[in-house]
Amino acid sequence: MIVESRSPLVKHIVNRLRDAGTDAAAFRALLRECARLLLAEAADALPVADRKITTWQGNFTGDFIDESKIVCVAILRAALPMQEGVLSSLDGIEGGFLAMKRDEETFQSHLYYNRVPDIEGKTVILVDPMVATGGSLHDALALLRTQNPARIISLNVIGAKEGVERVEKSFPDVAIHIAQIDPTLNKDAYIVPGLGDAGDRAYNTV
Ligand code: PRP
Ligand code: URA
Repeated sequence: MIVESRSPLVKHIVNRLRDAGTDAAAFRALLRECARLLLAEAADALPVADRKITTWQGNFTGDFIDESKIVCVAILRAALPMQEGVLSSLDGIEGGFLAMKRDEETFQSHLYYNRVPDIEGKTVILVDPMVATGGSLHDALALLRTQNPARIISLNVIGAKEGVERVEKSFPDVAIHIAQIDPTLNKDAYIVPGLGDAGDRAYNTV
């Protein structure tokens, strides 16, 4: 399932990210904020549990998100600020990391680090700002699936139409919450108009 955000605030953030004048510190802050807004849009699917707390008027039982059943997995490196955004809203959830690098000639993703905790029966929030060919997201989902999570939610900032549709075709039950779908890829498999290389822009590298 693909859910493209309709929020003007999310679109505003995406356009600030597209702006070549946005520096690395602002870029990371915008990724954090975008992830929190997308998380809010996806929150209906998160597990909840009653919890008893003591308030200024005595005991109170309320709905809380069941943080013990959620893991946020970041695809390094550009997703790190997104993961920070999610963890700033849900600071009791676990974090996991998959490091993937896309080969710039073949456009195949290569996994070079896997540090995902036990996700069996849990809700996984997978974050990665860019879905270009869809290869990285596809491979990450395929890997996570082998560990039997209860549900996977993907939070993404910009996706090329063909890449997002490719992922949806392989994983129709994954909810892909995306800020903006762009029309196409260029010959180097960069999203057009996109925002350039998200990892380089976030970390001042070229
Ligand atoms: C970027 C981005 C995605 C991937 C998208 O990462 O963060 O993971 O490219 O491309 P795809 O859909 O064609 O697979 P990259 O591999 O450049 O690594 P980086 O975050 O370390 O820069
Ligand atoms: N990775 C990015 O960071 N940007 C793109 O447009 C494509 C892949």
